[in-house]
Amino acid sequence: MRSVHTAILEAILGYRPAPKSLLDIGCGDGVFTRTIAATLPQTAITAVDVKQSKRFVGAKNITFKTGSAEALPVDSDAYDLVTASLTLHHWTNQPQAITEVFRVLKPGGLFIIGDPLLENWLINRFWGWLVQTLDGGRFASAQTLQTWAQDAGLDQVEINLIPRTMKSLYLVTARKPA
Ligand SMILES: C[S@@+](CC[C@H](N)C(=O)[O-])C[C@H]1O[C@@H](n2cnc3c(N)ncnc32)[C@H](O)[C@@H]1O
Repeated sequence: MRSVHTAILEAILGYRPAPKSLLDIGCGDGVFTRTIAATLPQTAITAVDVKQSKRFVGAKNITFKTGSAEALPVDSDAYDLVTASLTLHHWTNQPQAITEVFRVLKPGGLFIIGDPLLENWLINRFWGWLVQTLDGGRFASAQTLQTWAQDAGLDQVEINLIPRTMKSLYLVTARKPA
């Protein structure tokens, strides 16, 4: 498993009480979603992506829905946890999507992001530029992401560099006030 996935999984496991529901946005082929599903077999998981990958394989506790982060095809106040792994930089309207995440989280719920951020120091700038060029999308800065989260109504925003990720991937958590 990649370091970013390990970091997200640790944040998921740190959530108390055990989550009843989890939304994974931008699930792609669902490999990481299945890891979450196997780790939390009692949790009802919704996996969302703009298109269903041909390689997507579900699990008993995963429901797939087609839809975008900017208009999530799910109910309000429905999820203890929302995860976004390696997808935020692909979203076309990141602030709007974060407002959507706020809508679908239960009060007290946690938003967990693992994504590249562009920070103003040399190695990060170099890898950020390279990866953004190869992968496409737009990398936010930590400050911008914090502002989007707070403007959406989330608080307790924490942003930490994930070790062993070429100094470019960050774990971001933010909570919907209870
Ligand atoms: C690099 S894959 C990440 C897959 C998986 N989450 C992981 O960590 O391995 C990025 C995914 O984000 C999806 N995506 C891109 N824009 C999106 C959007 N606006 N809303 C939801 N998903 C989106 C893509 O279709 C793609 O499947």
